[in-house]
Amino acid sequence: MALDLNDYIASYKDFPEKGIMFRDISPLLEDGQAYKQATDEIVNYARERKVDMVVGPEARGFIVGCPVAYDLGIGFAPARKKGKLPGKTVKASYGLEYGESSLYLHEGAVKPGQRVLVTDDLLATGGTISATIELVEDLGGIVVGTAFLIELADLHGRDKIKGYDMLSLMKY
Ligand code: PRP
Ligand code: HPA
Repeated sequence: MALDLNDYIASYKDFPEKGIMFRDISPLLEDGQAYKQATDEIVNYARERKVDMVVGPEARGFIVGCPVAYDLGIGFAPARKKGKLPGKTVKASYGLEYGESSLYLHEGAVKPGQRVLVTDDLLATGGTISATIELVEDLGGIVVGTAFLIELADLHGRDKIKGYDMLSLMKY
């Protein structure tokens, strides 16, 4: 029997700042069946989109993207925060629901023409996913899908990635 994944999301009022209702995926990750069900749904989506590479932003994009890449036997490239990646990188800056940041991807991490799935745990304002898409496209990759565990619908992140296919397993 399929689980209701909503039962595995915890909500924290005023975290990390007043006025933010923080949706926490920890209970989902801590439950093997829930984590597997969520991963399997994204794997099926990736198969349909004929994905041949997964890219996810630090840190929680790794948690979602790595098991998907492993299951499909394809590569995963981490889009990392400032000062983490050695060697040549491409950079994209973005604003967050709270704060500002930049993401970097190794040059050559994605090959021109590769069909890429971009994953993250949660879509809020859409800044993080837009920056990750920008990095993939800078390297000539084709973003054929985006996948999230959670979409915070009120923040309209979806509008920032109009034109890209999107899967979200839960909406708040
Ligand atoms: C959170 C979350 C997403 C992003 C969503 O990451 O995991 O990546 O914010 O927000 P947005 O749609 O408004 O960009 P955070 O930057 O807090 O980093 P972390 O995963 O390292 O905790
Ligand atoms: N929950 C978890 N991560 C987040 C959120 C949230 O509400 N907003 C931005 N990143």
